[in-house]
Amino acid sequence: MHQRISPATRASGEIRLPGDKSISHRYALIASIAEGESRIHDFSTGADCHSTLGCVRALGIAVEEQGTDVTIQGRGLEGLKSPAGDLDAGNSGSTIRMLSGILAAQPFSTRISGDASLSRRPMARIMTPLAEMGASISAREGRFPPLEIQGGKLHSIDYTLPVPSAQVKSCILLAGLYADGITTVREPLRSRDHTEIALREFGAEVRVERRVITLQGRARLTGREMFVPSDLSSAAFFIVAALLVPGSELVIKGVGLNPTRSTLLDVLAAMGAKIRILDVAEKNGELVGQISVKSSRLRGGVIERAETAALIDEIPVLAVLGAASEEGLMVRDAAELRVKETDRIATVAENLRRMGIQPEELPDGICIPGRQRFRAATIDSFGDHRIAMAFSIAALMADGPCEIRDADAASVSFPEFFRILDQVTA
Ligand code: S3P
Repeated sequence: MHQRISPATRASGEIRLPGDKSISHRYALIASIAEGESRIHDFSTGADCHSTLGCVRALGIAVEEQGTDVTIQGRGLEGLKSPAGDLDAGNSGSTIRMLSGILAAQPFSTRISGDASLSRRPMARIMTPLAEMGASISAREGRFPPLEIQGGKLHSIDYTLPVPSAQVKSCILLAGLYADGITTVREPLRSRDHTEIALREFGAEVRVERRVITLQGRARLTGREMFVPSDLSSAAFFIVAALLVPGSELVIKGVGLNPTRSTLLDVLAAMGAKIRILDVAEKNGELVGQISVKSSRLRGGVIERAETAALIDEIPVLAVLGAASEEGLMVRDAAELRVKETDRIATVAENLRRMGIQPEELPDGICIPGRQRFRAATIDSFGDHRIAMAFSIAALMADGPCEIRDADAASVSFPEFFRILDQVTA
């Protein structure tokens, strides 16, 4: 599907967005190995989280969906069944990496694969710690999906993550549920902590001290009712739209504001963004609140080190914002962007060039000049949801209508994106 986006004169209104992708994956996985029924409200509508549901169904778990309410009949740590065929993680790095931690502990072997993009993404980062725990995993060329996982008895480890990755941390913690003793994960930088929070909610013993997480193995997890907040990474596209399109005023309700996810709001505020956070409450251990945004003059600046890691999913849309800012945007320490759904340094740079902007590509970052005009262009998502959505926001600022090729990639995380964009823009 190609999508035509016309320049906007405002991005205003009051919206509610679908459930958080990261949190939905975790609730679905943990509910499956908890004992008894879990009801998950506002489950992500994205294809990625449905890949996770498809995998747990294939592992013998009953999953019922009614709109965005998902009911999962958990069968306990030992309740999964050997699947009839390969598990399909689709486009989802979170599914393959986190589920592998559970599969590594099963008394059967599984093969898990994904689409062409996922098949190019690095898996050694989970294979190494899982092998240390006693699992036997083989991969295409030693590091790419499909993975063949020969499950078995695991032992606990004390592991220092070489790359800051919440998916790898979560994979080890999920495997650690099955190990005797205490599993320890040490993070170089703090990454999103939804797994730690969710495991505690379902009854596991998890301790966090600074960047060291410890989990007591052989945990007993119990099914329960969970509410997923709206996805701040999806909200990011609308926040940037409202900031950039003059005369905009946008309210986004019920958004997840977990501090390990909300660096975006701090960085934007420091650049001069008029953003207000209201009605903050806690639900299932996660902070939730309302975000209101008014169009603002933005300074731009430098994103590096811990900030880059905390903002990694928002960099494509921040690159768009950078080009419209006063001073431009420099992003450093972002080598991880090269191994996301696409090489996001390359795909952001290519689409900026198509719009008449000349960024400088660095091996681990990108430098984008400020005060740029966006020329109408044909954009390519390259099959990457966040590229499709980031450049749809750029198109709102263009000097004529733009076409987004392969725009339906957005449905990997946010199928309603174009409908809501149409609703708030004029
Ligand atoms: C995610 C972690 C991040 C992020 C991805 C979702 C998660 O990946 O980019 O979109 O839910 O844990 P890494 O763990 O590879 O950094």
